[in-house]
Amino acid sequence: VAFSHDGVLGNVGRYYSGKLREHGDSPRGVDWNSEESQQLRFEQLLRVIDPDDEHPSVLDYGCGYGALIGALTERLGDGGFTYVGHDIAPDMLEAARLRVSEGAECRFIGDADALAPADYVVASGIFNVKLDTLEDLWAEYVDATIERLDALSTRGFAFNMLTSYGDAEKRRPDLFYGDPCAYFDMCKRRYSRFVTLAHDYPLWEVTLIVRKEAGA
Ligand SMILES: C[S@@+](CC[C@H](N)C(=O)[O-])C[C@H]1O[C@@H](n2cnc3c(N)ncnc32)[C@H](O)[C@@H]1O
Repeated sequence: VAFSHDGVLGNVGRYYSGKLREHGDSPRGVDWNSEESQQLRFEQLLRVIDPDDEHPSVLDYGCGYGALIGALTERLGDGGFTYVGHDIAPDMLEAARLRVSEGAECRFIGDADALAPADYVVASGIFNVKLDTLEDLWAEYVDATIERLDALSTRGFAFNMLTSYGDAEKRRPDLFYGDPCAYFDMCKRRYSRFVTLAHDYPLWEVTLIVRKEAGA
């Protein structure tokens, strides 16, 4: 209840709607500074998908205007996967629906309670912007949301966050920086034996990849 839409998340949703209004359906419109960085994040996150899987289902949690669909198509081919995009900002879903037509293979869902489990859940950029939410409350929100990512995935999930390994002076008070080791430990203890901590790509971020079965 602490993370209701009119509370913490309402402000976050309005923040992203503002970005979309300003920059349109582009990487800047979801607050990334380049398409390269957006795609690099996808590349890391999509490592969660077992390459032997045929036609996996993917839930994109915090989908923005649905840019992940392009990366999935590149990797798995047109019609090679089923996709559901979820976002708290209704304008984002509207923008996504204008870009991609919905059908059995691709749907956008705004109601978090209406989401069904998928093979994989991927979340890019939902933990970064906390605005003026207190650090402890935001950390609780992060934990509760990771719990949801786990509950909604049968084969695995992956998320990214800003890393606490970085220049302390450059930190912004409106952003959340997670301790990669603490989140690795949490994922390993709570969710699966098979966890990858990817911190070897050139962004001030970490990606946690949690597979429910051993990787190939
Ligand atoms: C940084 S943007 C990235 C969008 C997309 N994942 C991409 O990489 O192009 C984060 C998106 O997540 C959405 N979002 C943030 N927190 C969320 C939450 N708890 N549940 C659903 N969507 C959320 C925002 O509205 C925003 O559209």
